[in-house]
Amino acid sequence: MSESGGCCRCCVSFIFSLGLTCLFVWLSLRPSKPSCSVNKFYVPALNKTSNDSQNTTIYFEIKLANGNKDKGIYYDDLHISLSYFENQSMLLGNATIPKFYQGHKKKAEKNSNVSWKPPSKADSNEAVFRVDLETAVRYKIMAWQTKRHTIRVSGNVTVNGQGTKSSKKGVKLKSRAPEHVGYRTPRLGLAVLSALFLLW
Ligand SMILES: *[C@@H]1O[C@H](CO)[C@@H](O)[C@H](O)[C@H]1NC(C)=O
Ligand SMILES: *[C@@H]1O[C@H](CO)[C@@H](O)[C@H](O)[C@H]1NC(C)=O
Ligand SMILES: *[C@@H]1O[C@H](CO)[C@@H](O)[C@H](O)[C@H]1NC(C)=O
Ligand SMILES: *[C@@H]1O[C@H](CO)[C@@H](O)[C@H](O)[C@H]1NC(C)=O
Ligand SMILES: *[C@@H]1O[C@H](CO)[C@@H](O)[C@H](O)[C@H]1NC(C)=O
Ligand SMILES: *[C@@H]1O[C@H](CO)[C@@H](O)[C@H](O)[C@H]1NC(C)=O
Ligand SMILES: *[C@@H]1O[C@H](CO)[C@@H](O)[C@H](O)[C@H]1NC(C)=O
Repeated sequence: MSESGGCCRCCVSFIFSLGLTCLFVWLSLRPSKPSCSVNKFYVPALNKTSNDSQNTTIYFEIKLANGNKDKGIYYDDLHISLSYFENQSMLLGNATIPKFYQGHKKKAEKNSNVSWKPPSKADSNEAVFRVDLETAVRYKIMAWQTKRHTIRVSGNVTVNGQGTKSSKKGVKLKSRAPEHVGYRTPRLGLAVLSALFLLW
């Protein structure tokens, strides 16, 4: 009787520590998304001190940072499109940054440009552009690769009369839609915890 009781207790604590180990392994393997921001933005056509009002290029720099301590990131091609903030269905131009790999705790700054047709006369002192970025990433966890996770982020860039980004700081691009990963994460954690309590 006491022998089987001891065995049962042993078994329960084994399951408990196994569950706890699983939880911690899962928590430490869970990757976080890279952060994306617009570092530089220059629209020569909106530079009032130049005579370049029909210049058809917009130059920008995207900064991508992998904050994961021990996971690399494989980026698919990054698709960037620009529109006016007021009318997002009016595509001004798009660009592609080729796919690349980024090691853990690394930052990358990627220059790109789009061609657009500037308005025949820009009279306001300020214009707000909307930057949409879309890509998919796979995380490299030791020798193993996760499946693709889609990333869709956007932000508003305000451009002054000099044709450059008004704010000195980078414009962080944020997720438009509710994050699926963000929702699943606490739920899965709760499920594991409640399973542990049931077993206990
Ligand atoms: C702009 O054009 C005007 C007339 O074409 C010229 O007088 C002026 O020097 C130009 N300014 C610049 C910055 O090129
Ligand atoms: C705007 O144009 C002027 C004249 O071409 C130039 O000197 C200036 O550097 C330009 N501004 C920016 C932010 O590049
Ligand atoms: C547009 O502006 C950029 C930056 O000032 C300049 O290097 C480029 O030559 C201009 N393009 C045209 C077509 O004038
Ligand atoms: C926005 O842009 C679309 C496509 O160019 C156009 O059909 C629509 O009329 C524009 N809407 C406004 C409010 O300007
Ligand atoms: C830009 O958008 C057009 C459609 O508006 C599409 O045909 C083209 O392939 C896109 N280019 C890039 C580089 O994504
Ligand atoms: C604009 O981007 C294309 C690639 O999308 C690149 O080949 C070209 O050199 C860039 N132009 C400038 C002026 O940076
Ligand atoms: C852009 O700016 C508007 C108004 O300030 C805000 O409602 C919207 O959420 C912004 N969009 C992004 C992607 O930051």
